Amino acid sequence: MVREVFLYGILLSTLQADTVANLPLQRDCFDCHQAQKVSSEFIYRRYLMKYSSKDTIRERLFLYLKSPSQYNSIMPPQFFGKYVVKEPTQLNDKILKERINDYIRFYDVSQKLFIPNDYN
Ligand code: HEC
Repeated sequence: MVREVFLYGILLSTLQADTVANLPLQRDCFDCHQAQKVSSEFIYRRYLMKYSSKDTIRERLFLYLKSPSQYNSIMPPQFFGKYVVKEPTQLNDKILKERINDYIRFYDVSQKLFIPNDYN
């Protein structure tokens, strides 16, 4: 019992940042976000607040990642004072859709476990 609680504690503590994602998601999305200090939690929360359905979020993410622009973005204008609009994704459509599903699934799980407050 004590051992289970201990292991569960370790599992929860690893969910603190963007790092528990599956490997392809980590490699194709979060490595760069972490390097450039883009807060994916903050971004995902904005998507959730703006769009009520996961299908719409999926479509909007796909559109943005294929052709990023301030016009397609849901981020506030001051976000682009800090970041330059990124390059279109190099991933093919099939892989991109998988990563978007992974991304949504990742935040669905982690949002239930902690309230991120690391965006300044
Ligand atoms: C080479 C670096 C890099 C990679 C790889 C990358 N991103 Fe980003 N991403 C950024 C940067 C920089 C921004 C902030 C500037 C912008 O929004 O264009 C950003 C912004 C975003 C946004 C904000 C969209 C909006 O409405 O403004 C989303 C969502 C996102 N990334 C998801 C992903 C996902 C999902 C992947 C993997 C499929 C991914 N990113 C891969 C660098 C990257």
